[in-house]
Amino acid sequence: MASSRLVSIIFFLYTIILSISSISSRENNNLVTNQAALFVFGDSLFDAGNNNYIDTGLRSNFWPYGQTTFKFPTGRVSDGRLIPDFIAEYAWLPLIPPNLQPSNGNNQFTYGVSFASAGAGALAGTFPGMVINLETQLSSFKNVERRLRSELGDAEAKKILSRAVYLFHIGGNDYFYPLSANSSLFQSNSKEKFADFVIGNTTSVIEEVYKMGGRKFGFLNVGAYDCAPAALILDRTNIGSCYKPVTELIDLHNKKFSDALKRLQRDLPGFRYAFHDYRTSLLERINNPMKYGFKEGKKGCCGSGPLRGNNTCGGRMGQDYELCENVTDYLFFDSSHLTEKAHRQIAELIWSGPPNVTGPYNLKALFELRST
Ligand SMILES: *[C@@H]1O[C@H](CO)[C@@H](O)[C@H](O)[C@H]1NC(C)=O
Ligand SMILES: *[C@@H]1O[C@H](CO)[C@@H](O)[C@H](O)[C@H]1NC(C)=O
Ligand SMILES: *[C@@H]1O[C@H](CO)[C@@H](O)[C@H](O)[C@H]1NC(C)=O
Ligand SMILES: *[C@@H]1O[C@H](CO)[C@@H](O)[C@H](O)[C@H]1NC(C)=O
Ligand SMILES: *[C@@H]1O[C@H](CO)[C@@H](O)[C@H](O)[C@H]1NC(C)=O
Repeated sequence: MASSRLVSIIFFLYTIILSISSISSRENNNLVTNQAALFVFGDSLFDAGNNNYIDTGLRSNFWPYGQTTFKFPTGRVSDGRLIPDFIAEYAWLPLIPPNLQPSNGNNQFTYGVSFASAGAGALAGTFPGMVINLETQLSSFKNVERRLRSELGDAEAKKILSRAVYLFHIGGNDYFYPLSANSSLFQSNSKEKFADFVIGNTTSVIEEVYKMGGRKFGFLNVGAYDCAPAALILDRTNIGSCYKPVTELIDLHNKKFSDALKRLQRDLPGFRYAFHDYRTSLLERINNPMKYGFKEGKKGCCGSGPLRGNNTCGGRMGQDYELCENVTDYLFFDSSHLTEKAHRQIAELIWSGPPNVTGPYNLKALFELRST
């Protein structure tokens, strides 16, 4: 009831905006074509519940995940909303559904859809068989494109894809997986070469989306997961310090990623993007939580052991866990994922951050861009 009312309010507001814009622009006032859609690719930072529908242990569809806003464990790895949920709200879009959600039914996804999967990496070898890797997320996007074309026609589908914004966060798991599960991946490649593979597999997906008509992209680089509670307890003799082997890899990746984006902008006519240095803004909050309205920057709200860095939130792996009393005091909800309050702050930075925070465009500017 409540949610259908919300949808109709959103629809109502949207209709008003459309009528205003059609008066001023004399453009096509078709509902479908005037709204820029949001397509989401990535890992747990963005997964709105796709992993609920695949055979994997990498799920968070149990209490207390979801306790804050949804009051229900949706599969999001947080107490509440994720960054794409806020972006959708700021862009006057409805919540962007996970692609695999069965109730999507005949939804055409003209507002977009999320392909993100917790644990996913750019490499097929990261958590193999347990996640929807980036390449597979791209295949799902191709299916959505085919469906849009067959239902709306080529021209209309093309218009939706070229006006849409494509949001990415990927790469962190590619570096964590070899350390946690298969270190032979590093032994057979230098770190430099390994990072080139991660970047190469990421940019080839971006290029494919571009070939299909995508022009507006949003990127967060890999966050400061070397300093998340789970990483802060890896070195038992030095609890509370960032885990250096991962710091080095994330820094290497993020340097190469910024360079790769500049190269794409140079090589692909009309390619526009919003880039936010998520690693820096997260690290800033870990080190100065009070400045951003948190009491705890290093301790998780939900988990066990030192800094609640053990990944046992919700009784994962049949273990006991602690849950904090007031989640709004915390930057991290579990041992490596942020709270809704933290997501909102990061979402605001990439949505409307000034050029020294998000550039060359911010997401607000990309959504407002009419002609591409
Ligand atoms: C680890 O990675 C190597 C190199 O890619 C691969 O041959 C091996 O099967 C992997 N082992 C496991 C347990 O996944
Ligand atoms: C993607 O990664 C694989 C290793 O998993 C590598 O062999 C391949 O060259 C990479 N592709 C690109 C375009 O970098
Ligand atoms: C953390 O979890 C592991 C199992 O994953 C368990 O063996 C260990 O005792 C836990 N440590 C603490 C401090 O809870
Ligand atoms: C939770 O913490 C926030 C911020 O510190 C505070 O404003 C709020 O009153 C607290 N809520 C409860 C139930 O203690
Ligand atoms: C961006 O610029 C503003 C105003 O010049 C400044 O206050 C802020 O600290 C800068 N932020 C970053 C991340 O450099």
